[in-house]
Amino acid sequence: MKDFEVFQNIEELDSESKYLVHKAKEATAHAYAPYSKFQVGAALMLDDGTVVTGSNQENASYPLCMCAERVALYTAATLHPGKKMTKLAVVAHKKNHKELTPATSCGACRQVMLEFEHRQNMPMQVIQLAKTNEWILTKGTGSLLPFDFSGENLLAV
Ligand code: THU
Repeated sequence: MKDFEVFQNIEELDSESKYLVHKAKEATAHAYAPYSKFQVGAALMLDDGTVVTGSNQENASYPLCMCAERVALYTAATLHPGKKMTKLAVVAHKKNHKELTPATSCGACRQVMLEFEHRQNMPMQVIQLAKTNEWILTKGTGSLLPFDFSGENLLAV
């Protein structure tokens, strides 16, 4: 089964996805990225239509930097417990640049998305701008994180 779609142009995305990309772009304004100057925004759709956003938050102690995706995911889990996460859009631009730059989620964020999919027993779609400058809409973390590690590994004998 093909579990992702590729779009050359943002106009080809469905209207909900375009809206989420728009909200993610807005969220980049709240990024705190004085070190990398790479401003990331994430917008997460919940099953009742609520949109929760996140932006990357950096720290002078670099390993403490937090990605926009995890800010959005953990905020949604805290403020809207029990609601399912249906779709996540992620975008980025360099500071003082308007045009988007490719931002495909880091491995840590993919691992966190996977755990939320397991918790809610439902896949989460993810929209990102790939390095090819194409929009990738994945149907779930299966294609973002094949051969994953999850709680199932811990149960295996
Ligand atoms: N960053 C994200 O917010 N999401 C990602 O998936 C990749 C990286 C942030 C972390 C850091 O603040 C900056 O981008 C540069 O790595």
